[in-house]
Amino acid sequence: MAGHDSIAYPTPQQDDPNIVFAWTPQQEADIARHIAKYPDKQSAVMPLLWIAQETWGWLPQGALQLVADTLQMELAQVYGVASFYTMYLKENKAPNLVEVCTCFACGECGGRELYAEAKQMLQVNDQGVSADGKIFLREAECLGACDSAVVVQINNRRMRFNVDAQAIARIFDQVRQGTPFEFVSVPLSNQKA
Ligand code: FES
Repeated sequence: MAGHDSIAYPTPQQDDPNIVFAWTPQQEADIARHIAKYPDKQSAVMPLLWIAQETWGWLPQGALQLVADTLQMELAQVYGVASFYTMYLKENKAPNLVEVCTCFACGECGGRELYAEAKQMLQVNDQGVSADGKIFLREAECLGACDSAVVVQINNRRMRFNVDAQAIARIFDQVRQGTPFEFVSVPLSNQKA
């Protein structure tokens, strides 16, 4: 991660006291299904962290504690897992996350320049948050589609390939408008998506 300026491992932010951290009955059923896959329940920590993040948008301390209580783990153990993986969000920086791959192939194919241009477009602050507060922009390590560089990932869910400045501007517009991103598979040939 050396050289990436937007990935940090802070202590969890304080929670909103109005949020009740509890699973729904549907989530409890999903959690039981995940736990049943493993020889011990603690091994289900990653899918539970994901469910928590999908629920609250990030991983506030109350969510981490809920995961810990559910799996009979220490909070520090759960946070240790969450802090290891960048896809788990330990800070509530903005409602949307856009990541530009600047790793190996993407970095050589314009990813670093695109990331710099994107920062300018959004007028991000030193935390990587856009001037309108809607987008947290950061670099990503390899997203696994190197022959379609530059690759961009939106909200940990959707990927876009062969992204240039015009395409990322459209991505930002779509994020701001709240329009869902369709699933797009990795192009079979390296053509503009
Ligand atoms: S280097 Fe960007 S997807 Fe692999």
